[in-house]
Amino acid sequence: MNTNEIMKLALDMSGFDYIPADSEIYVEGKGIKKILFGIDIDSSDLYYAKANGYDAVIAHHPQASIINAHEVYKDHVKVMNKYGVPEEAAQKAIEDKYEMLKISAMSANYDSTISVAQMLNMPFLNIHQPLDEIGRRLMQDKVDQVCKDENATLEDVIKALSSFKEMQVARTKVELLIGDENGKAGKTVVAHGTYTNGGYDVANAYFENGVNTVVYIHITYPDYIRLKKENKGNLIVSGHIASDAVGINPFVEALREKGLEVTTVKGIIK
Ligand SMILES: [Fe+2]
Ligand SMILES: [Fe+2]
Repeated sequence: MNTNEIMKLALDMSGFDYIPADSEIYVEGKGIKKILFGIDIDSSDLYYAKANGYDAVIAHHPQASIINAHEVYKDHVKVMNKYGVPEEAAQKAIEDKYEMLKISAMSANYDSTISVAQMLNMPFLNIHQPLDEIGRRLMQDKVDQVCKDENATLEDVIKALSSFKEMQVARTKVELLIGDENGKAGKTVVAHGTYTNGGYDVANAYFENGVNTVVYIHITYPDYIRLKKENKGNLIVSGHIASDAVGINPFVEALREKGLEVTTVKGIIK
C-alpha cells in the first residue's frame, strides 16, 4: 500500500470523503509492508522505525505542523445538533475553547517531528478524526443499546463502556465523575471525535438542551469542577488512551487484513 491508500482506508471506514484538518500525510511513501503505529509519535519513534526495517509510521494525534488542526473542534456543533442542541446554542458553546485552541497552536514548534521524518526519509502520516469517529460510533452504539431501557442507570452505562477490551486492559477506568451510579442515565451522548473534548461549555449546552449524561474521553480539572458545582447533568469520563484505542484498533485490524505487518505502541493495545 502507499500512504494515500492507507489514509483512504481510514476515510472509507469512518465515512469521510475528505481528509479532516487534524489528519495529514507528512511524508509520502509506497510499497509499504511494515508499519509502526502509535497514539503519539515523536522523533525517537521515527528513528526506531528507520533502524528496524519499518516502511512507514502512523500516529493518531496530529503533529504540531498542522497549525489548523483545531478547525475540527467546530464539528462539536454537528454532534450537538444531532442530539438536540439548537444551532445558536451550539455555536456559542464552541466559541471560547476554539479561540483558546487557535491561540495555543501558535506556541508549538510546527517543524519539530516532521523535519526529522523528512531527514530520515520515513513515510509518516497521522489519522485523528476518522479513527475517533469510529470510536465514537462504537461507544455511542454501546450506550444506545443499554439506554433502550429507559430505566438504565449510570452504572449500567459504565459497565457497558467498560466491556470494550481496550477499557479492560487500560490503566484508567471508565469513571462516573458527576452523578449517582444508581441514578438514571437518561439521554446519553458520547461527545468525542471532534478534535478534543468540549470542556464546560459543550457539556453545559447538552445539559441545557435535554441531554442527561455526557461521556467525554477526558476533561480538564477546572471544567470538571465547574460542571460539578452546577450539577445540571451527569458526566462520565471514559479514559483518553483507552478510548482512542477503541477507534484505532478496528483500523489496525483492517490494515492487517490487507496483509500489512503492524506493530502497535504507545497506547494501542496489542
Ligand atoms: Fe483520539
Ligand atoms: Fe487522543
